[in-house]
Amino acid sequence: MSLVGTAPDPSGRILMINGSPSRVSKTAAVVRVLAERLAAAGAAVDIVSVRDFPAEELAFGNAESPAIRRFLEFVALSRAIVVATPIYKASYTGVLKALLDTIPPGSFANKTVLPLATAGTLAHYLALDYALRPVLTFLGARDILPNLFLTDGSFQDALMPVFDDAIEERIGALVRALLAAVASDSLQALK
Ligand SMILES: Cc1cc2nc3c(=O)[nH]c(=O)nc-3n(C[C@H](O)[C@H](O)[C@H](O)COP(=O)(O)O)c2cc1C
Repeated sequence: MSLVGTAPDPSGRILMINGSPSRVSKTAAVVRVLAERLAAAGAAVDIVSVRDFPAEELAFGNAESPAIRRFLEFVALSRAIVVATPIYKASYTGVLKALLDTIPPGSFANKTVLPLATAGTLAHYLALDYALRPVLTFLGARDILPNLFLTDGSFQDALMPVFDDAIEERIGALVRALLAAVASDSLQALK
């Protein structure tokens, strides 16, 4: 788990979950772009990848796993969560499902959640809606932002993505929505 932001306010953290098992990952690149923009605006951002967990602990949903316990602490602490995945076989990745399966029902209540996908083509554009959103709802999420769905064609480079104006505008709007969620929570904490 790597800490990108440094702001100390624990009530306003944003957790970004990267569900790609790939070492060089477009999903990771988009997560990084979002994290940098959120951190630059003052948000405290944490990034976790499915690659951070010992495979066996994840595969068997080992509740005693220190890595999974720490992950669940981050989930509990965060005000907003980005769930990012490449599309695999018309759905999100199996390893992301294994990670989501470790989260107790209701854990996403009172959190703003952004579903994000990268994919080879637009063919499975609805996968986030039919596959991921029901899981997020089961986890208690009621404030789910519009999906961010990026095809491989929108990347000029997997490590350093350069997006066109329309995608930049969309990312900007979603970053603002996440910041607004965190700010409203910080205001609540002051009351
Ligand atoms: C096993 C596998 C299955 C895939 N299945 C699909 C699919 O069903 N639909 C699609 O649009 N892209 C599919 N893709 C392409 C990936 O979603 C796409 O390349 C994505 O950007 C990869 O993200 P990553 O670099 O973060 O792993 C698949 C890729 C892999 C490796």
